[in-house]
Amino acid sequence: MQFFLDSADIQQIAELTAIGLVDGITTNPTILAKANRPYLQIVKEICAIVSGPVSVEVIATDHPTMLKEALIIAELADNVVVKLPLTPPGLQTCKELSQRQIQTNVTLCFSASQAILAAKAGATYVSPFVGRLDDVGQDGLVLIGEIRAIYDQYPDFNTNILAASIRHPIHVVESAKMGADVATMPPSVLQQMFKHPLTDRGLEQFSADWAKTGQTILAAA
Ligand code: E4P
Repeated sequence: MQFFLDSADIQQIAELTAIGLVDGITTNPTILAKANRPYLQIVKEICAIVSGPVSVEVIATDHPTMLKEALIIAELADNVVVKLPLTPPGLQTCKELSQRQIQTNVTLCFSASQAILAAKAGATYVSPFVGRLDDVGQDGLVLIGEIRAIYDQYPDFNTNILAASIRHPIHVVESAKMGADVATMPPSVLQQMFKHPLTDRGLEQFSADWAKTGQTILAAA
């Protein structure tokens, strides 16, 4: 399973990427707006840190403008993925980009029928929004399982399931169980995934016991 960070925070991206567990980045217009800097500069900085896929979303809602924006975005860096909304113009653009071998991420997916359309349009990734479905009283994780079951029946569907709108580590674990290819999460969720009180307590105990010996591993080398 791949892990993407859903963020445009350069410092957090750099820190977490250095650990070696971040495979890519997703952004959206809200995330980039919060950064409050020219988007081009942010995207170039992210792409310099992360060699994996970096999703950048179009803003237009009509097909001709969307295609123009998509082609500009695709030129920003070799690892940029064009993010498109799950609408008829979005999927029309997706189909054209996939024919040109440009990577795409179809976003705002809330149903299995939408996910089928994204796969038929040749999307590289489809992003079902787990947390936002939970917010309206629908189990978002069930959707991940449904999409997995459908895609697995059709070998010509090459779309990766990117579990998005992840709010906590349980979403990541359950998405993994459901067979999501990727989970994109805020930096805070990846940080939470490391944490367990027994890990902290065990480490404290090991350090205290070792200190009593007066030895150091480095000095003995
Ligand atoms: C994914 O690509 C989206 O940017 C993101 O996961 C949305 O998450 P949110 O519902 O927490 O805003």
